[in-house]
Amino acid sequence: MCGIIARIGHGNAAETLLSGLENLEYRGYDSAGIAVQNGSGVKVHKCSGEVSDLKSTLTTHPHGNMGIGHTRWSTHGPPTDENAHPHTDTAGDVAVVHNGVIDNYDELRVELQAMGHVFESETDTEVIPHLIDEYLKSTGDTELAVRQAVDTLEGSYAIAAIVDGEEAVYAARKGSPLVLGLDDEEWFLASDVPAFLDYTDEVIYLEDGDMVVLEPDSYRITDLEGEPLERPIETVDWDPEDAGKGGYDHYMLKEIDTQPTALSNTIEGRIDNGTVAFEDLQSGTFEDVDSVQFIACGTSYHAAMYGGQLLRSAGVRTEVLRASEYKSMSGPVDDATLVVAVTQSGETADTLDAVRTASDHGARTLAVTNVVGSTAAREADDAVYIRAGPEVGVAATKTFSSQAVTLALLTQHVAADIPEATPRDDRASMLESLEDLPSHVETVLDTTQAEELAETYLDSESYFFIGSGLGHSVALEGALKFKEITYEHAEGFASGQLKHGPLALVTETTPVFAVYTGGEDEKTKTNAIEAQSRGAPIVAVGPDDHSLVDVADAYLSVPDTHPVWAGLLANVQLQLLSYYAAKLLDRPIDKPRNLAKSVTVE
Ligand code: M6R
Repeated sequence: MCGIIARIGHGNAAETLLSGLENLEYRGYDSAGIAVQNGSGVKVHKCSGEVSDLKSTLTTHPHGNMGIGHTRWSTHGPPTDENAHPHTDTAGDVAVVHNGVIDNYDELRVELQAMGHVFESETDTEVIPHLIDEYLKSTGDTELAVRQAVDTLEGSYAIAAIVDGEEAVYAARKGSPLVLGLDDEEWFLASDVPAFLDYTDEVIYLEDGDMVVLEPDSYRITDLEGEPLERPIETVDWDPEDAGKGGYDHYMLKEIDTQPTALSNTIEGRIDNGTVAFEDLQSGTFEDVDSVQFIACGTSYHAAMYGGQLLRSAGVRTEVLRASEYKSMSGPVDDATLVVAVTQSGETADTLDAVRTASDHGARTLAVTNVVGSTAAREADDAVYIRAGPEVGVAATKTFSSQAVTLALLTQHVAADIPEATPRDDRASMLESLEDLPSHVETVLDTTQAEELAETYLDSESYFFIGSGLGHSVALEGALKFKEITYEHAEGFASGQLKHGPLALVTETTPVFAVYTGGEDEKTKTNAIEAQSRGAPIVAVGPDDHSLVDVADAYLSVPDTHPVWAGLLANVQLQLLSYYAAKLLDRPIDKPRNLAKSVTVE
């Protein structure tokens, strides 16, 4: 949540900062700002609203070869002009952007006010420029002052600061992501790679406790004692095209449409002669594992349910837990427990907290993530990448599909290692049919009637999604996507649960989307019919050859395939349904209200 960027080099910084912020807006979009240093003071421009609002307030780009920028998801103080970043010290000589939460800001603010510092916002961040200013007065050394300031902070931060009259950007991180981008002519710092991917793919992923000083022709990384640190330079294999809209109205539709490619990348090289192999898995086999816990939030939790069910059906003791509830809901954890953290961004605070708790109990941890160098990837014992490419729309789409497939493969790999496991009889046909999944998704995209159905049911009071077995996770995901971007009431249920309460809400204005896979579908059919007999229109979502199609009022068809993959095809139909309903309702599809893509607060 919140995106920060900094740039220093030769030539003007403002345009680069603004375009970088646009690429970071998925991290927060309730206010935006930049500060540029041009030899005649630090110039701050900021406002509530999106980066496009900020741009419209700038008649010309402020002049200066270095600057910092921020796009906000508010935690402390509402989204007002005053609370927008960058924040400055009283004289306006030190400007800071920050992603994270400063826990001790209240006491620091009181101390600083007692020393005469004047505050203008309600944010936790504003203490940072005042602290830097205070230490600068006593040391006369900016690098030392920034080190002392961050040393005083409790909580999480990635910060970048500029100081009047200095040709440098100062930055530090603890608990929030920060990546250094290295181009021939300029250096960047940002919360995430897409901010500068148009300029460079050479990056350094900074670690907690790192501090960086960028100057026009050099950069240096130190620890908080000022000792120099070496960090490896890596090359990112994302294409700048992948991070753009590519002619689509919305990132979400682009990301739905590019699922065949994402899935091909996910699968590539991981199935060999009926066995599953992960080249990125460093630490050997899973033969010592006696139970597996999946932990995740939101859409990733639904993908984890998918994977969890497949592992359970291979005879492995499996729990699937919401990361935010991990401490209270987890069963026993020890060194025979494998904890699989499923997180697209690799930065979700609740998921990271659960990984750390599991580690403290001695568990082996494995991150399944989309983002190389993310905190989850670096903190877990192992990381497996879903290879979906950058996802910008706040609504997770292609990453769900790639997560579910990666997890399905991982479960086969893990089950093959565990002596007590009982790998599925149809494993060979399941793996073989996976090769066809990208082309089946293509078929769904080419033939879908989701747009027409979205229009048919647009005035409904509520939208229900039901499914059983693997269809259950898809039903939950369908409802989450629908409510997230349409703002309409939508709920997902295990099919058999409908009659235990929710049926009371069913009327002719509550369409029920019944997801089936050709596997465990009996309950879905009987419960759909029960809802239909109370007036609800039923939309069957699944393969053609099924008796539900005959009784349903409408139908979203998917190609016939192995039941393990059919749910993922049904999910593509539901993604499209949500997209078109939100479009008809004129919702801000890529930036739904109150949300952000990367949820870095608990
Ligand atoms: O980055 P993560 O996968 O850990 O994010 C978890 C959730 O915040 C995320 O899946 C969220 O539910 C989606 N934006 C929903 O579309």
